[in-house]
Parts: sequence; C-alpha cells; structure tokens
Amino acid sequence: LIEKLGIIGVGHLASYLVDGLMLANPEIEIVLSPRNVAKASSLAKKYGLTVASSNQSVADRSDLLLLTTRPQDISIALAEVRLSNRHLVVCTAAVAALEDLRRLAHPANILRAMPLSCAAICKSPTLLFPGNARAQELFEMLGQVHVVNTQQQFMRLSTMGAFYGWIFALLDQTVAWVEQDGVSKDVARQLVLETVRGASELGLATPEKELASLLNELATPGGITHQGLALLEERESFVAWSQALEVILHRLRENKS
Ligand SMILES: NC(=O)c1ccc[n+]([C@@H]2O[C@H](COP(=O)([O-])OP(=O)(O)OC[C@H]3O[C@@H](n4cnc5c(N)ncnc54)[C@H](OP(=O)(O)O)[C@@H]3O)[C@@H](O)[C@H]2O)c1
Repeated sequence: LIEKLGIIGVGHLASYLVDGLMLANPEIEIVLSPRNVAKASSLAKKYGLTVASSNQSVADRSDLLLLTTRPQDISIALAEVRLSNRHLVVCTAAVAALEDLRRLAHPANILRAMPLSCAAICKSPTLLFPGNARAQELFEMLGQVHVVNTQQQFMRLSTMGAFYGWIFALLDQTVAWVEQDGVSKDVARQLVLETVRGASELGLATPEKELASLLNELATPGGITHQGLALLEERESFVAWSQALEVILHRLRENKS
C-alpha cells in the first residue's frame, strides 16, 4: 500500500484495525489522532507509529483517512479538519447517512465501511458502501470485502455488526453450560469454538447447499438435534433473534446514534 494512512478516533475499532494492518504488512505507516492519549501512544509504541499533534495534522499527513469516532462525534471531527480532494475518508460509524457525510467531508471523497473486531487477526468481512478501489485494497488486507451498492442494503447488512456480538453471547452461555460434570473450561471453550468454526467452514465450503439442507441432514426425526430444535422453535427463540435484528435495522434506518 503506497498511500499514507491516517486514523481520526483512536479507540477500540482503530486498535483492531491497526493490529490487523500491522499483521498484514508491518511496513505500513500510520498517523494517529492524539485525543485518546493512552490508546494512541500505546499503539504508537507497540508498532513504531506516529501520534500527530492534532486532527488537522493527521489529515495533512495522509491521503486515506479512517474516521473511527463514535457516531455522535463524526460531525465535530469532520468540522475541525480541512480536507482536500486528494483525501479519501472512510467512516465506520454504524449510524451515519452517506449524504450527510458527503456534505461534511466536501471536497474529499467519503464512504462507509463496517469491519468487525476480528480485523485484528485479518479475518473480518468488511462492508463497503459505495465501492472504491483504494478502500477495498486497504480492507482486503483485513479479510474479505463486500461492496454494497445501496444504502438500504448497507444498513440491512450492517446489522451483522450486532449479530457478530450476539454470537459471543451465545458462545459464552454455551461454554458455561458445557463446563459441568468435571469438563474443564479450556475443553468447553475449545470444543464450542471449533464446533462453530466447523459449521461455518462447512457452509462456506459447500455454497451449492442451502444452510437449511445442511441442518436437515443432521436433524433426523427423533434425534437429539431435532428434539432440541423443536424446543427452541416452540419457545420462539428464532423469532426473538429476528426481532433483535429488526430493532437494529430500525435504528440504523432512523439514523439514531
Ligand atoms: N468497536 C467495533 O468493533 C466497531 C465495529 C464496527 C464499527 N464500529 C464503529 O466505529 C466507531 C468507533 O467505535 P469504537 O468502539 O472504536 O469507539 P471508541 O472506543 O469510543 O473510540 C472512539 C474514539 O474516538 C475518539 N474521539 C471522539 N471524538 C474525537 C475527535 N473529534 N477527534 C479525534 N478522536 C475523537 C474518542 O475519544 P474519547 O473517548 O475521548 O471521546 C475515542 O477514543 C463507532 O462509530 C462504531 O459505531 C465499531
């Protein structure tokens, strides 16, 4: 990557992205915004990066800018920097409409991205809206990029950012349940994670098969998978899951931070 990379908003996501980028290519030069001094200086120390004296200095020293503040801080952060048309800004806020961002970032080009914390290990699917070769090249270092063509679709797909978090809740609860009858936490954790990875990798390796058919092959009538599934359906667990997605989508559409 030949571009100079700057990050405004050095918090959790920024540190996942930096960890992943440094893993993918330790030669990348990154300039960090100074506001979160503790995090910025510890990242800078870890990887030999630069902490700028101001957000303007980050912008002056970079062509590609990652804007990774919380949604409510986006407009303030953009208002306090002068950008030029050489800049490409990538905003990761889960709730920020592209048209508002364009107005705030003018004359720079700006787009939206939704990476996940597993960017830190270069395994993150990242949504990009709209497509852009420079941004795509950057996020491909961190995993698989999915270019999305409409804001409607971007919002629907962005719900996966929350879904990703819920997976950890389900995993954690399952590990806690398995860890009984003398089963060690390590074994429980490893087994649960390998099971989910196995399911995920089987699905990815057999794209011609519907996920429902992978399930049907397991859930033989009278078997244990079938029995547990019937209970989950009776308790409307999957309805609750879809309702949670619906609530998130509603919030993203309403553009509330
Ligand atoms: N965390 C994730 O895994 C994830 C994944 C996808 C998308 N996102 C999105 O990414 C954004 C960041 O999330 P996060 O979890 O990393 O939040 P975070 O940990 O709160 O980090 C945001 C950072 O931005 C700083 N900041 C606020 N205003 C600033 C300004 N004007 N100039 C420079 N820095 C400023 C904050 O400093 P202060 O603490 O001093 O305010 C904080 O250090 C959010 O919009 C979120 O929706 C997050």
